[in-house]
Amino acid sequence: MKVISTESSQILAGRIAGALQSEIVDVRFSRFPDGELYLQAGALDRETVIVGSTPGNNALVQLLLLIEACEGSCNHLVLPYMGYARQDKRFHAGEPLSARAVARALSRGVDDIVTVNIHEPSVLSFFEVPAENISLAGEIGAFLQENGQDNPLILGPDEGAAVFSEQVAAVGCWDCDHLKKTRLSGESVVMEPKRLVVEGRNIVIVDDIISTGGTLATAAMMLYGQGARRIDAVCVHGVLTGGAYLHLRAAGIREVVCSDTLERGCSGFTAAGGIAACLRKS
Ligand code: R5P
Repeated sequence: MKVISTESSQILAGRIAGALQSEIVDVRFSRFPDGELYLQAGALDRETVIVGSTPGNNALVQLLLLIEACEGSCNHLVLPYMGYARQDKRFHAGEPLSARAVARALSRGVDDIVTVNIHEPSVLSFFEVPAENISLAGEIGAFLQENGQDNPLILGPDEGAAVFSEQVAAVGCWDCDHLKKTRLSGESVVMEPKRLVVEGRNIVIVDDIISTGGTLATAAMMLYGQGARRIDAVCVHGVLTGGAYLHLRAAGIREVVCSDTLERGCSGFTAAGGIAACLRKS
């Protein structure tokens, strides 16, 4: 079994190959003069692990091309971060079910798929081959332990993150809660923990995605207003669009840490072990 990757997941692919004790396939990436993508893969094996996050349109097209280049091998697709997964419903008439369109396209030419903290588990049913999702809650918990977090309060920024925050908190038997948003009037909204008091506490906000950083920056400002002592943020997928990192630091968040599902400078822990374990059992 060999491991191959798009440009967006090279480091994670290297770590997965290390965990599986597999060889890496070299790939040459370039562009045609009109901007279209080109790639050429080295010698493949009968079984290939294709690793490719799709944070943007080019990454998605490059992954489609890589799957095509691997035709003839038994292909296990690892999709660490799946772009378009958040449009998993038709929220308004006339909208596409984008997550399904992408899932269908990526299913062609692969035998099975592994995702990591996919935004909604229901998206797995859109793939046309067996698909399994792994969670990095355990890895986040271990990261917090290794980095000496002292009796933190683990907070999910919304109800959707409640189970995830409970799973992270379970690693260290830490306190855990999630924020609820109350609209006071018009634009005026207050976010506060559903059950616990934050005054004097060191808080770690955990989430699946940080995209613009808007959710966490607002939460941090409100929590400091309620007396929080220190706030850190840890997420799985650091999309970090439009200056999100600066936005979060400016809101007083001390450290922003993500996994390596997207290759950003603030990766603090890896998805490779969980992905390799999932691939080994399939
Ligand atoms: C929402 O359901 C997600 O879990 C994240 O909270 C959201 O995608 C974060 O987006 P942003 O960083 O743009 O506020």
